[in-house]
Amino acid sequence: MSVAFPEILVFCPEPEQAERYRELILARHPGAPVVSASSAQQAEPYIDRAEILLGWKVPAALLRRATRLRWMQKTGAGVEDLVLGNALPEHVRLTRCDGVLLAPRMIEYVLGAIYARTQKFHLAWTQQGERVWQPYMVDRAEGSVLGVAGLGDIGGAIARRAVANGFKVIGWRRSPQAEPDLDRVFVGLEQLKAFVALCDYLVLVLPLTNATRDMFDADILSAAKQGCFLINVGRGGVIVEPALVNALRSGALGGAMLDVYAEEPVPTDHAFWTLPNLYMTPHVSGPIVPDDVASFFLDNLDLYRNGLPLLREVDRASGY
Ligand code: GLV
Repeated sequence: MSVAFPEILVFCPEPEQAERYRELILARHPGAPVVSASSAQQAEPYIDRAEILLGWKVPAALLRRATRLRWMQKTGAGVEDLVLGNALPEHVRLTRCDGVLLAPRMIEYVLGAIYARTQKFHLAWTQQGERVWQPYMVDRAEGSVLGVAGLGDIGGAIARRAVANGFKVIGWRRSPQAEPDLDRVFVGLEQLKAFVALCDYLVLVLPLTNATRDMFDADILSAAKQGCFLINVGRGGVIVEPALVNALRSGALGGAMLDVYAEEPVPTDHAFWTLPNLYMTPHVSGPIVPDDVASFFLDNLDLYRNGLPLLREVDRASGY
């Protein structure tokens, strides 16, 4: 007896992405029952039929009505929107994207931020705008201490590339695990200050969970090495933003480059916009590429249909 192919709903607010996922699923499984939607209205006729949901930014009201849903594959690495506040019912299995899909671009973002600073490109471009020819001394990043907080699939990849690029790399993680490539790994909240105190570059690659929320508060930031440059590519909610503003204003931190924020888009009256030693990007460091994610999903779909363990299944208790 052949088992019916599970009904799949793709939900992405971006219509071209939603359609691309559908095409790619059909290319592997011609005739499979898969529909795509980009709004609650479009998803309405399918939401209580779907067994599998692939997507992101799914309205919570829609999720509550997904009575037959058994598995959701999030098209992204972070899942706090689904886990914190229980937007996705507990009995629904949740998988996230493997960091391998996002890490290559995030590595380049982090290294780009560091080298743009040491090469003082911002100064060159300001001078260019004013037609000023004024040579300056550039700095070197090699040999500096780069600390990665959060050594998951993405943080670990950033750390290893930083080692290859000649940084002295240290790490911080919540629970002990061997990291042979790193100079030293600090573990647990009690070692966070000691870790932060050593970093010339402090790179945050942490998920937002009940344990990481507001972790970088005034107390932790006050431990930072003088002149430390902070880069956040994880989630904005791990930093107490007013404390970061104070640290940047007082010079306790040398500067920061942020890709993620407690609230996105960042409100126009936020103090961040006014800080000369803060560089902001609008959550672009780890873009989701449908062709990559679809291939990961299709591998997971094979596992699901064969009753095997899924890749990157989220543990609701730890939140990632
Ligand atoms: C991006 O922030 C993601 O969670 O994939």
